Order: sequence, then C-alpha cells, then structure tokens
Amino acid sequence: MRADRKKYLVYLAAACVLYGCTGSGGGGRSEKTVPEFVFTYAENQADDYPTSQAAYRFAELVKKKTDGRIEIQVKTGAALGDEKAILEQMQFGGIDFARVSLSPLSEIVPQMNILQMPYIYTGRTHMWNVLDGEIGDAFMEFFQDAELVPLSWYDAGARSFYTSEIPIYKLEDIEGLKIRVQQSRLMMDTIEILGGEAVPMKYEDVYSAIQKGEVDGAENNWPTYESEQHYKVAKYFTLDEHTRVPELQLASRATWNKLSESDQEVIRQCAEESAEYQRKLWTEREKTAEQKVRREGCQVIELSEAEKLRFRQAVMPIYEKYCAGYMDLVEQIREAGEK
Ligand code: GCU
Repeated sequence: MRADRKKYLVYLAAACVLYGCTGSGGGGRSEKTVPEFVFTYAENQADDYPTSQAAYRFAELVKKKTDGRIEIQVKTGAALGDEKAILEQMQFGGIDFARVSLSPLSEIVPQMNILQMPYIYTGRTHMWNVLDGEIGDAFMEFFQDAELVPLSWYDAGARSFYTSEIPIYKLEDIEGLKIRVQQSRLMMDTIEILGGEAVPMKYEDVYSAIQKGEVDGAENNWPTYESEQHYKVAKYFTLDEHTRVPELQLASRATWNKLSESDQEVIRQCAEESAEYQRKLWTEREKTAEQKVRREGCQVIELSEAEKLRFRQAVMPIYEKYCAGYMDLVEQIREAGEK
C-alpha cells in the first residue's frame, strides 16, 4: 500500500512538472487564478438580445476587475427558469444574479409598481430623468428589507398591444379580447380596466399561446415582438405605448452578504457600466427590430393623440389602488417630465 502511494505521488509530481499545477484544471504555462466565487446569472432573453449581451459584458468586467477571483456564469434563454421562478430562487441564494422586468419584481417589492404605472412617463427621456436621478435612488431604498439587492437600471422601451385577428384601432376594440400579460396584478388590472381579459402567463409560452389561439394577442416592446417572433403570429401592432416597464439587474442578498465591501463596490460599478452598454444596444435594437417587422408584413396602427388620451384616461382609476400612500412620489415623477 505504502509503496503504491509513493509511486502515485511520484507520478503526480511528474505530471505537475509536465503540465503545470495551477489548480485551475489544466492551465498550461500561464498562471491562472482559481475563482474564489463562481456565481450564476439568470436572463430570460435570447443570447443576442441587448440585456443578454450586457449581462455578458457585466460578467467580463467583473472577471477583469477582480483578476478572475469572481466568475459570473450567464445563462440566457430562461435556462434557469422563468422570471417568477428566478426571483423566488434568488430570495434564498439559489441564483446569484439576474436581470428582471419590474412587473414580476413588484409582486415582491410592491412600490416598484409606481415606476411602471401606465402612462406615467411622457417618453424615454422622462423615464431616464426619473431613474437616473434622486427619485430612482429613493426607490432603491424600498429594497432594504428584501432578499434582493438592486444594482442598475436597464431599458425595456415602451409596451404596446399586438393581436392576431382583430386589430385595435380604438379603445372599444379591446373589449373582450384575451390578452397575455406578465405575472403581475398591475398588468392584469390594466388590461381589465381597458376592457380586455387578462391572461397571465410565462414569457416563454406566449408565442405558442397566440399561435394556438389561446389568447388574441399580447403586449410588449419592439425588440421582444421581433426576437420572440410574436410578429409572425400577431401581425397587428397598435402603437399605444401604454406603459414603460424598466428593468433591474439584481443580486441575491444571500450572495451579496458573502462578498467584501470592496467586491460589492466593484460589482456595482460593473453593473453600472453594463447598463450604459445595454441602453446603447437597446436604442439600436428598437430601431432594427421595428424595421424588420415592418418589412416582414407587420401592420402598425398609429393612434391619434385624442385616442391615446382616451386610453390614458381609462387607466387612471388604478392609480388609487397601486399608488395609495405614495401619491407624493407619483407627483414628483410627473413633475420630472415637465422639466
Ligand atoms: C420583456 C422583458 C422580459 C419579460 C417580458 C414579458 O421582454 O424584457 O423580462 O419577461 O417582457 O413580457 O414577460
């Protein structure tokens, strides 16, 4: 036994000399750092989508700035589950990082609903004035008791309706239509108050639900409409822009607490940098996605200002339900649009 063990150690030493024992599993001659932390990052969009590309950038930056001590493995295409499941797992550290839409997140941190109320922003600039400024910072405070740590804001443009058979030209056309929504009570109430029937469903199931006629349509932004191929099954796109739903990069608090303050700071900086990159990619993708779907036969229905106003007025009553106690914040958000 002893002799065998000796022999084994000799072989091992020889192998180390030949191949280099860097502890990194075959690092050749160059010295490789063994990661101290290997984390997971969940993303439900396709690999080439702006949020996925920015997630890869985030992981690269973190690796570079920590000299390989922190590795983040990005899993796109909902490989780690749908958004609701991702958020559930993050709350006990089952998933370390993610980018999610505020809609499902609001079920955990309800104040996030305020930032995605229908027609709360006059446009993109207004939304970024809010999120990048003091109001955005104030909203970060609502995470204090949550098991999630907000890192940086991502763009997701404006959401509009699209339908397969019945085009929406005016408010009355929504009456009775089955519209897929995110798993969010606010989104359900928005559809219902406009006269439609809300069908909450996972993102990954939308294409087939429209194709099979289980719903009459859905609502989303240009890049999703194109990336998920929804335009192939729902060609009428009504540009009503009823809501802008910002997105957040998040860390699980359980994961966050394992990190030193200086690592936390590095991760925050990388998240900010990746967010700048995401916004740039987003602006480009919004344009190319719109061009592509128009070229491929999507029929875009533009609403008159008067009709848009009717949509806006119709949804106002839900502000009472979702913003009660926070009307001062709603006012501040509105005022930021007038600057
Ligand atoms: C957008 C958003 C996704 C979300 C999806 C949805 O595409 O970026 O995170 O899951 O909307 O409608 O579910």
